[in-house]
Amino acid sequence: MTDTRVLVLVGSLRAESLNRRIAETLRDRAPEGISIEIVEGLGELPFYNEDLDAGTASEPVQLVRKTVAEADRVLVVTPEYNGTMPAVLNNAIDWLSRPYGAGALVGKPLAVIGATPTPYGGKWAHEHTQRSATIAGAKVLEDVVVSQSAMEGDILADDAIVTKLLEAVQSLADAEVDATPAA
Ligand code: FNR
Repeated sequence: MTDTRVLVLVGSLRAESLNRRIAETLRDRAPEGISIEIVEGLGELPFYNEDLDAGTASEPVQLVRKTVAEADRVLVVTPEYNGTMPAVLNNAIDWLSRPYGAGALVGKPLAVIGATPTPYGGKWAHEHTQRSATIAGAKVLEDVVVSQSAMEGDILADDAIVTKLLEAVQSLADAEVDATPAA
């Protein structure tokens, strides 16, 4: 059987990003039968503008759309900025939500995880991402969410936390693709 392909959208662009390190750790320790790829180039996407989306979209947009469209699952790994998701992630979701009803996210099982150095672990960003991705057409797994507090120490050196994050990946991979009941 072929691997379940999980595409990861990382909500932080900084080189030392903890959330990027989480994504890389999950990729490197992916459970058997699951392959994880991090989507690059989110920082190259222009701000969403319907004028730019009227004809042939720019190359970075086409690439990100194609990469996500080919995935079996989408995992968002993001911190929180000012009580919501970082603009780079919001912008990516906007591009992936169009054309309306046929965007790359439509029908994709999607889960959200991430960490911030606060007691809440980015909870609001994760809730907002779930809502936005739902409106964009993804099949958001509401219960598969980890908002990990990273107040001290290296959370990725903590086996219990890494296991919890890997379990979220496994749940995402195990999700029913078409949960729509037959008419
Ligand atoms: C933050 N940070 C933050 N954290 C949080 O839990 N809630 C918040 O509302 C905010 N707001 C915020 C705004 C801006 C502009 C920045 C730069 C940062 C802190 C943020 O979670 C922290 O810097 C994370 O470590 C960023 O994640 P990466 O880059 O390490 O993945």
